[in-house]
Amino acid sequence: MKALMLSGGSGTRLRPITHTAAKQLVPIANKPILFYGLESLAAAGVAEVGVVVGRTKDEVMAAVGDGSAFNLKVVYIDQGEPRGLADTVLISRDFLGDDDFVMYLGDNFLLGGINDVVAAFSGRDSSVNAHILLAKVPDPSRFGVAIMDGKGRVTDLIEKPANPPSDLALVGVYLFDSSIHEAVRAIVPSARGELEITDAIAHLIKEGKTVNASMVDGYWKDLGEPEALLEGNRMALERMTTMILGEVAGSKIEGTVVVEAGASVIDSVIRGPAIVGAGTVVRSSYVGPFSSIGRHCRIEETEVANSIILDSAVVSQIAELEGSIIGRYAHVIKRASRPISNSIVVGDHSRLELI
Ligand code: TTP
Repeated sequence: MKALMLSGGSGTRLRPITHTAAKQLVPIANKPILFYGLESLAAAGVAEVGVVVGRTKDEVMAAVGDGSAFNLKVVYIDQGEPRGLADTVLISRDFLGDDDFVMYLGDNFLLGGINDVVAAFSGRDSSVNAHILLAKVPDPSRFGVAIMDGKGRVTDLIEKPANPPSDLALVGVYLFDSSIHEAVRAIVPSARGELEITDAIAHLIKEGKTVNASMVDGYWKDLGEPEALLEGNRMALERMTTMILGEVAGSKIEGTVVVEAGASVIDSVIRGPAIVGAGTVVRSSYVGPFSSIGRHCRIEETEVANSIILDSAVVSQIAELEGSIIGRYAHVIKRASRPISNSIVVGDHSRLELI
């Protein structure tokens, strides 16, 4: 079984972070979202992965390399513009050949991995042409939604329905046999101008192919927007074990905490689960639960919790930072001179909630 890992797209919902960085490389618990997916593919026994890249291809290629760090053989498939999930299958025909494959959305986070579903699809009765994963969600109109027949078979799918016929959302992992290639060629772009994978799967069903579904095993989240990213970060941090490799002086460490090698925690309190990245200095600060502090950051006289601070950011003398995502090289600092009012240089599509 091969895999297609989707790492193109626009990432508009995660702006401004995605103005300058690939969405799939945003870290949770200091590890890019994409790496969790690649590790899950390798754990499931997949050997060859086509990584679909777009505008951020240089960054993705630099991070993933030839895949050997993940025990995978990686090739890159350049999509150019994001023309939809089904388009990624269309342009990957040569790489995929007639093999079965798993298509994995690079911004999706599945805590339970995909071992069972990949094993079940590999050992299936050959009359099954595709298998999708589903999760019950409170807001199905934001997702692709499936309609089932009660025997584990999918009878129809609708992309982002105004009146959802069920609360079963499609998770970003799909298993296909080669019949999907005819389906992605048969469909036309949707109203939003994309070739939709839901339309391709609906086409399979219309043509009499068998599409099965099962509920996802464990926690799943599409990390494509800020609140979801913070939730994914919390889930990833909860799975860590304590590891103090950096310097800790005059400080209190409580709960599950990782201090990476080369980090310094001085006169501070770190209450886990939390991680402090290599080369970062935390001084006279409180780093509270569910915080991921990246590498080469400076955190001083600050209180932060439930936040993601990306590499090389500086946060200084900020009393309360909660539920925040701070981009690379960003400076969030207390104003030192009068007038004591907020002074902001803020990037396009940023969101600030000030008190
Ligand atoms: P989406 O999150 O649906 O799309 P997006 O990344 O463009 O984000 P936004 O809606 O915020 O603008 O994409 C799911 C995954 O698939 C994500 O990892 C990006 C990837 N993708 C591609 O590689 N090619 C594509 O044409 C599309 C639409 C997505």
